[in-house]
Amino acid sequence: MDREQNELNEQLDPSRIPNHIAIIMDGNGRWAKKRHLPRVAGHKEGMNTVKKVAIAASNLGVKVLTLYAFSTENWKRPKTEVSYLMQLPIRFFSTFVPDLVKHNVKVMVMGDTSQLPKATQKAVRDAINDTADCDGMILNFALNYGGRDEIVRAVRGIATDVANKRLNLDQISAKTVDDYLMTAPLKELADPDLLIRTSGELRLSNFLLWQIAYSEFIFTDQFWPDFDANSLEKAIIKFQQRKRRFGGLINK
Ligand code: FPP
Repeated sequence: MDREQNELNEQLDPSRIPNHIAIIMDGNGRWAKKRHLPRVAGHKEGMNTVKKVAIAASNLGVKVLTLYAFSTENWKRPKTEVSYLMQLPIRFFSTFVPDLVKHNVKVMVMGDTSQLPKATQKAVRDAINDTADCDGMILNFALNYGGRDEIVRAVRGIATDVANKRLNLDQISAKTVDDYLMTAPLKELADPDLLIRTSGELRLSNFLLWQIAYSEFIFTDQFWPDFDANSLEKAIIKFQQRKRRFGGLINK
């Protein structure tokens, strides 16, 4: 263990690890550009970072790690880049599922996967099946995911069930909305405690719009391929220094 790691471990309170961490993995393109490499080289390195950070999060006791891997807006990118990004889950799962199983990590995916290439859909399905019995950390990939799209689908689901008389208008509550969102399978862990965005951009980019109502935000200048286990620990230490009030008062 290096000195930095030792110091971080001393500052980290292992009894107050955020249950759900969500990450907007940004800066792959700029990481590559800085090295005079094609943008996709950044995505490839970004995939390696996903492996490292997933294991680090699992080791720290994080319960859900949600990663924004492809947004509903990312289709606007050049065709070659989109097709590279669509190959990444195939590459990732083909080599990494045994490690995930070893660490008892369960794979979940949210987003409209029906629009993904068939081979990507299969890789995702296989990874979900192969890790179905794991009951440690949930590694939740947002793939072809958009927060507004998710809310529109939830509204449609609720409206349909009201029309079919399966749901009573007066009974619709925030909990009802939770139940119709793509994070519903996460139950009480659906809302991230901590949202991290790399690469210095200060936006949400349509990520988990409903669920981040009370999340703590941490923005770091590091590009995603440079992010590592120590970066994750630093973010958690910052999170632990925040005073979460959820709209109330701390010392009543
Ligand atoms: C944003 O960086 C990143 C993405 C749109 C893709 C994120 C995907 C990965 C990190 C790999 C995913 C891995 C798996 C296993 C699915 P950017 O391209 O917008 O960077 P830039 O802002 O510097 O151009």
